[in-house]
Amino acid sequence: MKELVDKIIKLKKDKNAVILAHCYQNAEIDEVADFVGDSLYLSQMASKTNAKIILFAGVYFMAQTAKILCPDKKVLLPNINAGCEMADMINLEQLKDFKHKYPNIPTVCYINSTAEVKSECDICCTSSNAIKIVDSLKSEKVLFLPDKNLGRWVEKHLANTTVITYDGYCPIHHNITIEDVLNVKRANPNIKLLAHPECQEVITSQADFVGSTTGIMNFVKNSSDKKFIIATEKGVVDRLRRDYPQKEFVIIKENLVCRSMKLNSLQDIYNSLNNETYEIEVNREISQKALKCIERMLDISKNGAAN
Ligand code: 13P
Ligand code: SF4
Repeated sequence: MKELVDKIIKLKKDKNAVILAHCYQNAEIDEVADFVGDSLYLSQMASKTNAKIILFAGVYFMAQTAKILCPDKKVLLPNINAGCEMADMINLEQLKDFKHKYPNIPTVCYINSTAEVKSECDICCTSSNAIKIVDSLKSEKVLFLPDKNLGRWVEKHLANTTVITYDGYCPIHHNITIEDVLNVKRANPNIKLLAHPECQEVITSQADFVGSTTGIMNFVKNSSDKKFIIATEKGVVDRLRRDYPQKEFVIIKENLVCRSMKLNSLQDIYNSLNNETYEIEVNREISQKALKCIERMLDISKNGAAN
């Protein structure tokens, strides 16, 4: 592995490339990454980089977002099959139907959506700024898509806004049941539960802290507790166990794995940089419209991300 890591680091330098890695990636990818974090942090880093090539160790919509933010750079996704099941739950036609059903209401899309969908929404959000973004619209009603769980969670925090949600969800987080949570809590009494807002409301209402992947990692960093129950994708738990060997982490269930996120291997990253594949392109007109939706979010999130 060391040899492969060295080869990637050398290629990165030779080609003036930057590697952005989401926290759900296989943890060994951190060895070659310049930035590791949640969706908001990575889109902020993409918008600021001076590198010529951005390699996104993540899923398709993330690389697409980087391309929209940096249309003149080469953006690479190491494994072209790394998609997001939630982002694929809504296409342009479904979005138009949703907007037609509820006309004249501002539309907020989760960053986990395609460029086409972003191009027809007013503003984008991530799990770490969703409340702030929806609140910024100062609207009585808001359409929120694709994630109904994140939408519900936002609504719960805003007294004056009705959030009308599309029927999408992340299959990994949505699959966590209340029985899973109660069983683990029973076996680990008085241990704090940290959950991602993509989980169902019945789960987040049981949590001591709800936040993005980075939010959960920061909570652990700033807490004096020695043990935590974690309800999010396993990549976060892998990193927590690596970074805090003196602390204990109980994952709600072992199969909380996003297969798409795990498709990128170090070998794929090497091949991707070496061959400059798979290059992500976005239609210019769609890209310009989607850029407005993303930039509005970045502007509002400039001074700190967290809700
Ligand atoms: P965050 O990166 O905002 O925590 O979202 C998690 C996720 O599901 C990314 O696909
Ligand atoms: Fe999509 Fe869920 Fe995987 Fe994130 S964890 S990329 S939301 S399927």
